[in-house]
Amino acid sequence: MKIVVLNGSPKGESSITLQYVNFIRKKFPQHEYKVFHVAKNIRKLEKDGNAFRTIIDEISNSDGVLWAFGLWVLAVSAQYMRFIELISERSAKDAFKNKYAASLSTSIHYFDHIAHNYIRSIAEDLDMRYTDGLSLDLADLRKKDERNNLIIFAEDFLNSMQHKYPTARLFKPMTYSNFDYQPSPAKDTVHPKNKKIIVLTDASNGSSNLEKMVNRFVQSFPLESHVEIVQLDDIDIRGGCLGCMRCGYDYNCQYKDGFADFYNHRVRSSDIIVFAGSVKGRFLSSAWKTFYDRAFFWNHSPSLIGKQIGYIISGPLSQIPNLIQYLEASSFARQDSNHVDIITDESEDSLEIDNLLQIFAERLLRFSEQDYIKPKNFLGVGGHKVFRDDIWGRFRMIWQADYRYFRAHGKYDFPQKNYGIRIATAAMMLLTKIPPFRRKFYSNLRDMPVKRMQRLIEKY
Ligand SMILES: Cc1cc2nc3c(=O)[nH]c(=O)nc-3n(C[C@H](O)[C@H](O)[C@H](O)COP(=O)(O)O)c2cc1C
Repeated sequence: MKIVVLNGSPKGESSITLQYVNFIRKKFPQHEYKVFHVAKNIRKLEKDGNAFRTIIDEISNSDGVLWAFGLWVLAVSAQYMRFIELISERSAKDAFKNKYAASLSTSIHYFDHIAHNYIRSIAEDLDMRYTDGLSLDLADLRKKDERNNLIIFAEDFLNSMQHKYPTARLFKPMTYSNFDYQPSPAKDTVHPKNKKIIVLTDASNGSSNLEKMVNRFVQSFPLESHVEIVQLDDIDIRGGCLGCMRCGYDYNCQYKDGFADFYNHRVRSSDIIVFAGSVKGRFLSSAWKTFYDRAFFWNHSPSLIGKQIGYIISGPLSQIPNLIQYLEASSFARQDSNHVDIITDESEDSLEIDNLLQIFAERLLRFSEQDYIKPKNFLGVGGHKVFRDDIWGRFRMIWQADYRYFRAHGKYDFPQKNYGIRIATAAMMLLTKIPPFRRKFYSNLRDMPVKRMQRLIEKY
């Protein structure tokens, strides 16, 4: 079998995931493997059509494609997304049709499911036959059981290819609308007072729905109020995050461009941040992903604390729950900020969109004045524990700035530290060994917390 490996790590040969691919190659040497460092070489592939064509020709002549990548800020890297954009921009989709596909990642399991869902949906959009995805911890190669899982996964992929097994499809093809949003002038305005508002947008076409939505949103505020609109194109970003991790020591990015300065002085100084983008493929543009990746110089520490965050999205967002989750995770799982809402043009009703944008402006402002930060849901609570354990433990030496921040802000909230609960638990576990006590304890268990709450409510 001929297998093309599309390496999604911006680190190229130094990719950790690539070592897992090399393990597969060693175990199944009877097959032919061609590895392309598409993320690392993205600039060359953008400029050099022949270099891109060589990869596409190899895919055409292959039996299957292994999408191999490390997790990069809750998804695949911006450079990998850019490669995926090039496939449609350069009409290279046919090369992928009916090829077998699988995805292999390494990470610390922080939103790895988002990356795998993304790659699977892309593979299915390319009419590939997707067999499976395997998400391993970056150190799993050292574990015998996980090496065994890797072998089974690879064997299944190769067998499916060899015997042309049928594969299931999980994601319906996307449908796009050509609805043209016609905004009406705002009747009311809401004054931002001392609140600073910034809208970041990748809208480039002056008449796009996104641009019109952004303008209509800004009209919700009086003319004299300073709402800043920034095009992503106008920010000095020289490229995607390269994963050098030097920022781990003191939050300093090694890139000598204007991004860190822009992020620190204009984004972080705002009270209300609105991200505006159009759906592209199964995500937003790779330019947006570059923005998110580059903001990683703040490592795992929240950099938008206390902000109100909202999104204006043009396109079929409701068809991509995976992207909705990415946006929620980016604003209120990764950050200690408030995810207010996502306004789209999917209703295809201009008046309704006007009203939604108006109310959106009012809510962003009101919540900002009220310092409202919603408590985190599973995305934030679960995510925090993944970061907390790894920053305290095995990655402390790399992410030293995070370690200091987590310690200073009480983020090492391990249950072990709760001595009251520990003593009570030990006592109760002893007491519940006594059958009459145990019966009483379990019979009261359902009502006990409610009674406490009822007493609390009575006080108000
Ligand atoms: C810039 C950057 C962003 C990362 N983002 C995530 C993430 O969102 N979730 C996660 O589980 N791991 C994340 N990691 C950890 C990597 O996924 C992990 O180190 C992986 O093994 C890298 O694979 P690679 O060397 O093949 O690129 C990140 C690492 C870097 C350097």
